[in-house]
Amino acid sequence: MSVFAGRYGPWAVIAGGSEGVGASFAHQLAARGLNLVLVARKPGPLEETAAAVRAKHGVQVRTLALDLSHDGMLDAIRAVTDGLDVGTLIHNAGAASGPVALIDQPTENALANIRLNVIGQTVLAQHFARAMVARGRGAIVLVGSLGAIAGCKNLAVYAAVKSFTQTFAEGLWAEMKPHGVDAAALMIGRTRTPALERTPLHENTGVPAAEPDDVAAFVLANLAEGPVLVPPEHQASFDAMRAMPRRKAVTIMTRSLEPQTRDLM
Ligand SMILES: NC(=O)c1ccc[n+]([C@@H]2O[C@H](COP(=O)([O-])OP(=O)(O)OC[C@H]3O[C@@H](n4cnc5c(N)ncnc54)[C@H](OP(=O)(O)O)[C@@H]3O)[C@@H](O)[C@H]2O)c1
Repeated sequence: MSVFAGRYGPWAVIAGGSEGVGASFAHQLAARGLNLVLVARKPGPLEETAAAVRAKHGVQVRTLALDLSHDGMLDAIRAVTDGLDVGTLIHNAGAASGPVALIDQPTENALANIRLNVIGQTVLAQHFARAMVARGRGAIVLVGSLGAIAGCKNLAVYAAVKSFTQTFAEGLWAEMKPHGVDAAALMIGRTRTPALERTPLHENTGVPAAEPDDVAAFVLANLAEGPVLVPPEHQASFDAMRAMPRRKAVTIMTRSLEPQTRDLM
């Protein structure tokens, strides 16, 4: 067993593990010898990624087609993970469904975003952290967004829940570190994922997009460097936005995602 698998294996759970950054994590963790539990809603891409990982890396891969924003999601996850020694949790699922103004969207959309990113990250982190602390090793990575640094017109809830991710991970890092468990928020900006390609946001050509494989490789090389991991290609934007007065930050954030963040309705 590799040093990495000894510290972060033998199983990893990737919540949102079928596409994009989640699929990159799946391949790169499997390449290090970890077995995987992949969770996502659409069975097709989920099974495709699982089959590709099994064929390429020869590890065990379990799949669970599940909406992580639904009540009872922990029970469903426990049904496939209880009894496994889970040394890594990656919570990747969580992209915005908008952009749309709060008053123009069904309340349920806003709440689903909160359930996925806030409640989902909290419930899964707590569940798997307990076993990791008992073993004295492991890693938890919660995927946030550069969108967390400032409120954004037409993405108000998304920006806010990603802000939760960073602050939550910082506290978790402080709680877990003495027990030998690494925790971090991964704060990424535009990244070339299938989900991004399906939204109008991919049409924004002013900001270069990171590659999912590069993002996953950066994280796995820096798991112990929490509480906040920002890929090198996004660090300058992260630092600049954080240093801005708030009104300016909101304006720049909104402009950086135009034309999609202009009034659409
Ligand atoms: N792409 C970007 O430019 C960008 C920028 C900043 C931050 N991020 C963050 O990076 C993460 C990954 O983003 P992404 O662009 O790949 O989009 P995403 O829609 O979050 O999809 C990522 C994975 O999560 C799954 N997923 C999404 N919603 C789910 C749900 N409710 N229940 C279960 N699984 C779910 C997806 O499969 P299914 O659709 O089949 O469920 C897919 O496997 C997100 O947290 C996002 O906020 C992305």
